[in-house]
Amino acid sequence: MREIRPKVLVTRQLPEAVEARLSSTYDVTLNADNKTLSKKQLSAAMAEYDALVPTVSDQIDAHILQTPGRQVRIIANVGVGYSNIDTDTARVEGIAVSNTPDVLTDATADIALLLILAATRHTYAAEKKLRENRWSDFSLVDGLGSSVQGKVLGIIGMGRIGQATARRARLGLGMNVIFYNRSTITGLDFEATQVGAIDEVMTSADVISIHAPGGGSSPLVNAGHIAKLKPTAYLINTARGDCIDQTALIEALSSNRIAGAGLDVFTEEPHIPDVLRKLDNVTLLPHIGSATLEVRTAMGMLAVDNLDAFFSAETMPCRIV
Ligand code: DGY
Repeated sequence: MREIRPKVLVTRQLPEAVEARLSSTYDVTLNADNKTLSKKQLSAAMAEYDALVPTVSDQIDAHILQTPGRQVRIIANVGVGYSNIDTDTARVEGIAVSNTPDVLTDATADIALLLILAATRHTYAAEKKLRENRWSDFSLVDGLGSSVQGKVLGIIGMGRIGQATARRARLGLGMNVIFYNRSTITGLDFEATQVGAIDEVMTSADVISIHAPGGGSSPLVNAGHIAKLKPTAYLINTARGDCIDQTALIEALSSNRIAGAGLDVFTEEPHIPDVLRKLDNVTLLPHIGSATLEVRTAMGMLAVDNLDAFFSAETMPCRIV
């Protein structure tokens, strides 16, 4: 008798090795075009498949989760962040949800560091000048950035990625680290001081790096916080676009109220406001924090580990709901 394999929909392309593993175990539908599915397609999938393997570009809201005739029993998200999934509704509906933490911690911290250095050394404006053929001569005074050694790095959200970023900045760059985290953090293997409020980070840090999960009803770093930044401060975000009031940040950058920013995430990805794209004092990346072949493969494999455990009634390695 032929064994019935669970039907799995993978919403976006994954590295080859992950797709091969999925195909060997499941009745899998892959997305060869790699185009984001519409809400209608996601709803239809909820009634047709046993499992979804989505990622950050799929908004799995209550409406989709409550699709009449829903068959999906597990959503194995490829990503550590899961603010794209309404986990409260998933819980009520009895749908399991998992994520892929740890495997992307170093890669994301590397990109945070890259943005800290790019922002403080004004590399976007420098490269643009060169590419536009406006670099006429070596100069000792043009385009000067700020050194990071001995400056204060303020981390907002001292979880795995916040810690990996802070460790690199402290031990690799010689920055002094302060951080805000909702719960108390002890036992760090590098020097860092916890402060009691986001405002304290805003008023004292030279570089602020956000490492919070996102998905809140309002931005964690709001216009009031941004107003408190030093005029020489740089803001870095590799977490989620909705962690920051993007409009207030754009205003602060456009008016040179702050020195600059480095952003890998945005509120309405992939839409980037024109005004932001035109600014020279911000380095912009298209959400590439975890974008290495090794890491994206590891994320995909971990999502499949979650699926395998679920369908064999074992403990899922990274179950959220
Ligand atoms: C994550 O894993 O959350 C990254 O942002 C990619 O989605």
